[in-house]
Amino acid sequence: MEFREVVRRRRMVRRYADRPVDPTVLDRALDHATRGPSAGFTQGVELLVLDEPAAVARFWDATTDPTADPGSESGWLAGMRTAPVVVVPLTSREAYLDRYAEPDKGWTDRDPARWPVPYWYVDAGMAALLLLQTAVDEGLGGCLFGIPPERVGAFRTAFGVPADRLPVGAVTLGHRVEDPGAAGSPSRRPRRPAAELVHRGRWGGFGLGSEIS
Ligand SMILES: Cc1cc2nc3c(=O)[nH]c(=O)nc-3n(C[C@H](O)[C@H](O)[C@H](O)COP(=O)(O)O)c2cc1C
Repeated sequence: MEFREVVRRRRMVRRYADRPVDPTVLDRALDHATRGPSAGFTQGVELLVLDEPAAVARFWDATTDPTADPGSESGWLAGMRTAPVVVVPLTSREAYLDRYAEPDKGWTDRDPARWPVPYWYVDAGMAALLLLQTAVDEGLGGCLFGIPPERVGAFRTAFGVPADRLPVGAVTLGHRVEDPGAAGSPSRRPRRPAAELVHRGRWGGFGLGSEIS
């Protein structure tokens, strides 16, 4: 698929077909996700891959409220549970502080105040987008979503995740279905035109140089 098609077609998919993901395709998506840029080439983003039904079920058990009435399960959750694969990108602030304490960077005080923008999260976002874009390129769908903060402890316990690894959310992957499932925010709010989001030359300057369809 043309890259521009990948970019245009990507939408968050919140319900999946009852079909497994080809392991070769999954491996390609995971490989791509490890090839994103990283500050200082820290490569501090790791991926927890859950592609067995028992592991996927354990993910949902850990990250959803165990006291909730199963009958009251939201359409969102019912749809997302149909995904055959869940990938959790995890980042490490410590890895970046360590990397930038090395001689070529020299921030030996390891002071987090040096990081007004926490690049460990920026890099995780890049990895997640590579996963989502590869999914589209391979004819699959995906959705990035948050793990509720009160469930992160249970998630760590369920999968033996060390305390310094920070889950940035999770990505479901699978084959799309005709019924797209729960509608996301784009059904409620319009896409802002690129010309409004791009400031050319100065803030408030006219956006795009030419019309893009
Ligand atoms: C950082 C981030 C967090 C998100 N969290 C959720 C989420 O918790 N649940 C969900 O259904 N979608 C989530 N989304 C998906 C957004 O709602 C979606 O990207 C946005 O509405 C635009 O729709 P599109 O990606 O389908 O074009 C998240 C997206 C991002 C980038």
